[in-house]
Amino acid sequence: MNILAFETSCDETSVAVVRDGRELLANEVLSQNDLHALYGGVVPEIAARSHLEAIARLTDKALAAAGCGIDAVAATAAPGLIGALLVGLNFAKGYALAKGLPLIPVHHMRGHVAAAYIAEPDLKPPLLAAVVSGGNTLFMEVLDYTTYRMVGGTRDDAAGEAFDKGARLLGLGYPGGAALSRLAAEGDDTRYKFPVAEMEGAPYDTSFSGVKTVLRNLVHHAKQLYGDDWADGFDLPSLAASYQKAILDALVDKLCAAANALGYDAVVLAGGVAANRVLCARLRERLGNRIHIPPVYLCGDNAAMIAAQAYYESLDGVFAPMSQNAYATFDVEKALC
Ligand code: KG4
Repeated sequence: MNILAFETSCDETSVAVVRDGRELLANEVLSQNDLHALYGGVVPEIAARSHLEAIARLTDKALAAAGCGIDAVAATAAPGLIGALLVGLNFAKGYALAKGLPLIPVHHMRGHVAAAYIAEPDLKPPLLAAVVSGGNTLFMEVLDYTTYRMVGGTRDDAAGEAFDKGARLLGLGYPGGAALSRLAAEGDDTRYKFPVAEMEGAPYDTSFSGVKTVLRNLVHHAKQLYGDDWADGFDLPSLAASYQKAILDALVDKLCAAANALGYDAVVLAGGVAANRVLCARLRERLGNRIHIPPVYLCGDNAAMIAAQAYYESLDGVFAPMSQNAYATFDVEKALC
């Protein structure tokens, strides 16, 4: 089954074609980073308008690259920026209606996990998955392709958001996760102390707002004292390394504890923060060949992962009516229609 999928939940417009959930035929991704960098974060209105401008062109490119017939259409229906989601979902509806094809709604988090099915054709649930991105950080049991159970995650900021906000405080631009991790590579991660949050009674939950606040207070205090020369008093690479370590300590410890306690042989790491090499190395060190990490181009937001998950949703009979809505938030355990 060849599925044409659309992903527009945040600031990447993406259109892909995937065969039987595993074989990648086309994956067009257009990042809006440059547009949002001006504002230091994603502007929802600009994101939605930019998806609208790009989506038809990317669809033509994806269909030409795939060069095959299409059997079903899929779109991310939740969670995400509501205006942005509506562009992809409604474009998918229009395409499905015009061609007389079924429409499959996909939960964005389930899609992130399905990136691993494309990367490793033999990988199957049950597995434990961590989706660690700019908007979400959550750990889920994937009992079968369409049965999810939440295990834990952040109570507030996502890990990628903590990277981005930290990078912004250090003047590294937006989105700054990659820049912060590059700077951190030159530093000593034991030089500064940042807190790692523990939640009473919730061993797999964490929080990143505290670590961000500590960095903000350090930088603001230095700016009040030294103005433009605020950075002179810091070893900036070590500050970045110590900040990164606090975020990664929480992620690695919680995920490994969950994997061991729940007895999972397969653990999937997905989402944009999976591009962080230190995170990947630490998980490989702790979990050995139990950890599965898709390549970076499948970890960031993309429609290929949506097409992959859509295939398994379709095997479960998940087809949407034309009245299907998009949702800014939606429980990953529940069916979208
Ligand atoms: O999944 P994704 O592409 O989409 C959103 O959720 O928006 O994730 C993007 C996130 C951003 O927060 C970005 O800063 C972060 O992934 N990121 C990184 C690295 N590369 C990207 N965070 C830490 N280290 C990296 N090397």
